[in-house]
Amino acid sequence: MSFKNIGLLCSGGDSPGMNCAIRAVVRTALFHGIKVTGIKRGYSGILNKEFIPMNLSSVGNIIQRGGTILQTSRCPEWLHPEHRKKGVELLRAQGIDALVIIGGDGSFNGAKSLWDEHQFPVIGIPGTIDNDISGTDYTIGFDTAVQTAIEAVDRIRDTAHSHARTFLVEVMGRNSSAIALKVGVCTGAENILLPHETVDHQKIFDDIKRGMKRGKDSSIVIVAEGPVAGRSYDIQKVLKEKYQLDAHVAILGHVQRGGSPSANDRFIASQMGNLAVEALMKKQFPVVTVETSGKVGLAPLEDCITKANNNFIEFQNLAQTLSI
Ligand code: F6P
Repeated sequence: MSFKNIGLLCSGGDSPGMNCAIRAVVRTALFHGIKVTGIKRGYSGILNKEFIPMNLSSVGNIIQRGGTILQTSRCPEWLHPEHRKKGVELLRAQGIDALVIIGGDGSFNGAKSLWDEHQFPVIGIPGTIDNDISGTDYTIGFDTAVQTAIEAVDRIRDTAHSHARTFLVEVMGRNSSAIALKVGVCTGAENILLPHETVDHQKIFDDIKRGMKRGKDSSIVIVAEGPVAGRSYDIQKVLKEKYQLDAHVAILGHVQRGGSPSANDRFIASQMGNLAVEALMKKQFPVVTVETSGKVGLAPLEDCITKANNNFIEFQNLAQTLSI
């Protein structure tokens, strides 16, 4: 059987470059004479029948735009088998015979259930700023988010230096250390706090003091947001009360999720979108498009359904060594 109509959706948190992947899926499929149906707002869009036929111009002028034209959502209903069964019926009624899902590990778990329970052909494309999916070195959006955060920290460093201040800069990453570590290395941060790490206030204070002694005028501590965004305020309070150290807080938040995708994100997303359709045509599913050792390829879906939250952990020592 060859596929006639590919369903395409984004699920979970959006990330810069998702539009490039959408464009690549649509253009590759149409090039090969396969129809594409866009599904709005992730798995919810299947259940709510939000189907839109995609043509060549549906994806015109989107390569440079952040977010996702299909929009996205986190869909708790999809966790229940009866909703997935209903979803497959709705997809089939629409003539959709395969699904491409752009998202993170949670979205891929949803895809795996579709395959396991209904043998519905699925392909995943990793898209999240967190870079935390097992089986792939890279997820679309990470590069752009890191660049956005670096630019923000550079600006903060300018004013921190002028006033000889310490800043706690909170970056995204509920479970993932990747943004914090890469931004920390690239901005020369004096300290990096990982999402689930117990905060060692004494060490933060000692590092800052040591820097001051050798003439440093400013200190930047990168704080991964962890389970509850805003934890920098708790750290600020302890530093003030216990060590009489005044630190300012800057929470970068969702600024990191938007914006025009970097060259790297556009390039990888374009390759992954193209490869996803080619894999379907060769009946290679269920798989995920991945990047390993700098090359885009395919990995079994089951290798990509857990969180890899220690990506970049090896750079913690590098950041520490270079910021003494
Ligand atoms: O998409 C990943 C992510 O940006 C995490 O880094 C962050 O913790 C979380 O999503 C925020 O999610 P929401 O936009 O639903 O608040």
